[in-house]
Amino acid sequence: MTIAGLILLATLGLTPPLGEVEQRRASGLSPVAATAPDPTNTAWDHPVAARLGQRVFFDPGFSRNGAVSCATCHDPKLAFTDGKPLPMGLDQGFRHTPSLLNVAHHRWFFWDGRADTLWSQALHPFERDEEFGTSRLAALHRVHDDEVLRQEYEQVFGPMPPLDDLDRFPANAGPGPDPTDPRVIGWNAMTDDDRETVNRAFSNLGKAIAAYEHRLISPPSPFDQFVAAMKAGDEEGMNILSPSARRGLVLFVGEAGCRQCHNGALLSDREFHNIGIPTAGEDLPSDAGRWEGIRLLKENPFRANGTYSDAPDSQRGRSTGSVIRNSEHWGAFRTPSLRNLNRTAPYMHHGQFATLADVLGYYNTLEDMVVVDHHQETVLQPLDLSPEQLADLEAFLLSLSSPPIDPALRSAPPRPGTGSPDK
Ligand code: HEC
Ligand code: HEC
Repeated sequence: MTIAGLILLATLGLTPPLGEVEQRRASGLSPVAATAPDPTNTAWDHPVAARLGQRVFFDPGFSRNGAVSCATCHDPKLAFTDGKPLPMGLDQGFRHTPSLLNVAHHRWFFWDGRADTLWSQALHPFERDEEFGTSRLAALHRVHDDEVLRQEYEQVFGPMPPLDDLDRFPANAGPGPDPTDPRVIGWNAMTDDDRETVNRAFSNLGKAIAAYEHRLISPPSPFDQFVAAMKAGDEEGMNILSPSARRGLVLFVGEAGCRQCHNGALLSDREFHNIGIPTAGEDLPSDAGRWEGIRLLKENPFRANGTYSDAPDSQRGRSTGSVIRNSEHWGAFRTPSLRNLNRTAPYMHHGQFATLADVLGYYNTLEDMVVVDHHQETVLQPLDLSPEQLADLEAFLLSLSSPPIDPALRSAPPRPGTGSPDK
């Protein structure tokens, strides 16, 4: 349907009929399925691993000041985001917090894709100074010294290392960039074998967290119900989308060109693009995005084709081995999912835009677009849509918002024997 035709329908207040192509494209955006197991993590479907992971996720005791947990930044009430442009753990982070709903469907993790599995991603926060600010040994000692955590760990992964021996396994030690940091000194003094043992146990902790995280699948949104009704030929059921949201859908899969990058059930191609968003403030360093992400991925001992992977030769492992960086990766960020945008503001990798209207305003004019060099993608053209059409696109985007997930996944599981939540 042409833009002029859509404007006419909009002024008449009519619902546009979906053509065959539009129907097919809409079907491609729904539903969100359960995730396939990740072969690099044999604990993926282990229910006790998932419970352990969920306990750790909500436990502030893993942070240096005892006040920051994963849920501090990934708040279940906000679709597992924090509502801030930039996150605040022990200190301010430098990229915006993404939603964890449906996260396991991604291929690469973080805005720059520097993690290739959900389990290896989960290891980063422990050792980052602005997040938990501790170390892999501090994390393992906490599991070891807590009866419930330790018992669950051992049920899934077998005996923990002999962490009682503090000469071999210091209370707070791990690798880091600063050789004068006591954590790094302690780590460097350990034997290779003991370091290897610790890394293995630390990777297990990440695998337990991933076993929890992949269950965070968002329930059907109004848009998913619309597609189900459309496939069933149920005209009445299709009324769940307003005429405005349906016009927005037609624009999204058609002339506005959004589906070039926002496709599939996540409305993300799961790849990286530079769409030229200006950086948020002068005090933020310029961000190389995927360019730097690939370098960090390649040197990470916990990558999918590394020693701690349960399937280094899997497809996932092989593709990590073959990733090569090129100049197009400079300043590119992973296409975010467009589900649950009603709870994930602000938007973009630095939280540059406060509202969806701001995002759409950017696509409409490409004002202040930063063009790095001639390698940059030239897919984006100013849309020049009318205010009504922008409102239609926004109505469509908001129809991708789901009701909250199962309450049992939204807080720490009860401690055995007490019936009270883990604190
Ligand atoms: C201080 C806030 C903060 C804390 C604490 C935190 N995160 Fe995050 N998380 C972020 C930010 C910011 C990013 C994106 C960083 C980037 O892309 O460079 C992120 C990214 C992620 C991602 C990747 C999402 C995606 O779409 O690729 C996952 C998964 C995740 N965090 C899980 C966790 C887990 C598990 C914990 C606890 C072990 C945790 N986070 C602790 C802020 C936080
Ligand atoms: C060339 C690929 C591409 C096209 C085309 C594209 N996007 Fe995006 N979109 C992205 C990328 C990449 C980001 C993240 C950019 C960043 O943070 O630097 C993004 C971010 C967004 C966000 C913010 C989501 C969040 O959680 O931060 C929204 C909303 C959005 N796009 C909607 C649209 C709409 C609507 C269209 C069509 C008008 C569209 N996009 C076209 C690649 C694209």
